[in-house]
Amino acid sequence: MTNQPLWHGRFANKTNEAAFALNASISFDIRMADQDVRGSIAWAEAIYKAGILDEAEHAQIQAGLRQIKEEIRSQTFTVKPDDEDIHSAVERRLGEIIGALSGKLHTGRSRNDQVATDFRLWMLDHIPALDAALVDLQSALVERAEMDISLPPSGEGWDGGTIMPGYTHLQRAQPITLGQWFLSHYPPLKRDQARLQELSRRVSILPLGSGALAGCPYPIDRVALSESLGFDAPSFNSLDAVSNRDFAAEFLFVAALIGTHLSKLAEQVVLFTSAEFGFFELDDAYSTGSSLMPQKKNADPFELTRGKAGTLLGYLMGLMATLKGLPSTYDKDLQEDKIPVFAAFDTLIAMLPVIAGALRTLTVIPARMEAAIDSNMMATDLADYLVERGIPFREAHAISGEVVRAGISKEKSLNALTLEEYQEINAVFDEKVYEVYDARASIAKRAAIGGTAPEAVKVQIERAKEELKN
Ligand code: ARG
Repeated sequence: MTNQPLWHGRFANKTNEAAFALNASISFDIRMADQDVRGSIAWAEAIYKAGILDEAEHAQIQAGLRQIKEEIRSQTFTVKPDDEDIHSAVERRLGEIIGALSGKLHTGRSRNDQVATDFRLWMLDHIPALDAALVDLQSALVERAEMDISLPPSGEGWDGGTIMPGYTHLQRAQPITLGQWFLSHYPPLKRDQARLQELSRRVSILPLGSGALAGCPYPIDRVALSESLGFDAPSFNSLDAVSNRDFAAEFLFVAALIGTHLSKLAEQVVLFTSAEFGFFELDDAYSTGSSLMPQKKNADPFELTRGKAGTLLGYLMGLMATLKGLPSTYDKDLQEDKIPVFAAFDTLIAMLPVIAGALRTLTVIPARMEAAIDSNMMATDLADYLVERGIPFREAHAISGEVVRAGISKEKSLNALTLEEYQEINAVFDEKVYEVYDARASIAKRAAIGGTAPEAVKVQIERAKEELKN
């Protein structure tokens, strides 16, 4: 006997094979098998309490569902060619186990409130893994910062670890510590994690008990049902409940933003591992070679991370476009919600541990980083030197600019200009001007909260470690 679709009654003829294939979602919603059965277990109890099932029927349905749950757990649950979606597959299997009684389970329920429930349960089940992967990457960044700042002093009384150029517009701007650089990638991920937690609260609203759209005609206790499935509360309005996919869009937004943050980090690592920068070397375990050019060592995981950020953004755009302009309430278009969410989840779960591992194992080349700092990067400190001598900052900025211009025309770096050359520009310059070009001193001055000075970096490390503990 071939299985009939759940909705066969109204139809005289069988669905066209290609149309069935297009319609079917089992290939991807099979991932919600466990959630689907849990939803059914809770639903069976709810309709039993509402007097729709007697005790014996309830017990039989529960036993059948528990058997299916176990089959799913042990991966012995099999999909049949006629299973349109996971809901049909579970109901079909229940029929195989307990017979015609299985037909009572769907009383008062629709696949519309069922699928919305399954999908929310799936998300609630999977956010913790993403959260853990984000925490691990944050830990890797903090570990690297701490590791660097614990290096033996590299300069006079210096306990700030590696120093490097900080960039704006990808132009050398001001010297910073490597610890400060690593830690700059920590707060965006922390915020993403907070976004996921915030999102969880909105996911935790139960659609089940909304029927196809208009609500459930049986006296279901939706509060008890919500509690039994671990949701915070039942949904407010049945029309909204079956059509609301905000949670999927929000999930994809957070995923796209995580992708964007990782991509920014990745782009810098790709640059820093190039021969031109030579700041980092990736461990062999996290890089790949070329089939043609024997010398190549490529930062593929970081390039892929950069690339996948685009794909993640596409998932968000795709779903938003699907949702836009849909008539209330359930439309089959909504079936398109799961593929991008599953794909975004899989992408991040694959990517995050690789980035964390690559960061934990990369070699820093402090000499290259320090060599990339030139005295021009202390031109701001030169202006501050003039400010200390009573010159208003705006004027000091202009004088420093003149010094930079003189350096360019004389083809000298700022610390190579003679005192006479300085004094030709302004009489206030004295011998002490050369102290300005100590990059470590420049860094050490920036000790206000959040700054690059070693003491400020140490405060960040302590704070991050405290946050990561919780
Ligand atoms: N497979 C469907 C989905 O994922 C289940 C809901 C079907 N509802 C319906 N009215 N055809 O959206």
